[in-house]
Amino acid sequence: MTKKILLVGDGAVGSTFANDLLQHTKVDELVIADVVKKRPVGDAMDLEDITPLVGGCNVHPGEYADAQDADVVVITAGVPRKPGETRLDLVNKNVGILKSIIQPVVDSGFQGIFVVSANPVDILTTLTQKLSGFPKNKVIGTGTSLDSARLQVELAKKLQVPVTEVNSLVLGEHGDTSFENFDESTISGKALRDFSGINDQVLAEIEQDVRQKGGAIIEHKGATFYGIAMMLTQIVSAILENRAIVLPLSAPINGEYGIKHDLYLGTPTVINGAGINQVLETKLSDAELKKMRNSAEKMQEVLAAIDL
Ligand code: 2OP
Repeated sequence: MTKKILLVGDGAVGSTFANDLLQHTKVDELVIADVVKKRPVGDAMDLEDITPLVGGCNVHPGEYADAQDADVVVITAGVPRKPGETRLDLVNKNVGILKSIIQPVVDSGFQGIFVVSANPVDILTTLTQKLSGFPKNKVIGTGTSLDSARLQVELAKKLQVPVTEVNSLVLGEHGDTSFENFDESTISGKALRDFSGINDQVLAEIEQDVRQKGGAIIEHKGATFYGIAMMLTQIVSAILENRAIVLPLSAPINGEYGIKHDLYLGTPTVINGAGINQVLETKLSDAELKKMRNSAEKMQEVLAAIDL
């Protein structure tokens, strides 16, 4: 059973993801497509030089039609944020780009799984499912997986504990209406709120730092790509290896959290070789539930304004 990936978008995120993926899991064929035709040619030439050390892979440039027998189509294509822009500022441009991708991929006869990281990711993941008509479990977005990693880093630094011991999540929109489940967060089984030095003010500052970290990285280096590329690699390698993992991803909401809208939003999600296996409605306090519903309302407001 050959394992084939079509990567759509060979910018900083796509290129970093391609390099990560080949070193992380066995891929038999990696096809790279981009509207800038030279980039995938050069990237494929560059990436093939690592294949002797990672067990081989047929890496080559290609087109959307190459999705036909692909296991996964990864969509990173989109205009990235500039300093000072929000992810939602990108919606009009990136919805247009998404529409130009989905139809030719579906027309190719693709029957695999879509994985979306382009921003605003919850909106674009929702629209990928609507435009493709694919079963909801076969469309996945990176959601708040990167935000949650950033939260782990901040809390580990603050509490001087190993980052791997921090059990805390960012949920909702990958954007300005995201929030943390501080009321349920623990570090090695001890409640976050029981740690000395932790209070509402400190947690509010951490929440702000996490929410603004993507923008801060962009201010300093022009783009973010290592974190988001690693989230894509975790997702795609779990699919290719049919290995169940749980991450806070953009997942199809079907009444969870009392949300009535038909959209994707960041919530803990079990994925495996078949795509989304379970959407987990994680326990939230009343205040957090309100924030989750607010995030959903904001996403619905944006979706309602989009003329597909
Ligand atoms: C970030 O926060 C790319 O939106 C992503 O870095």
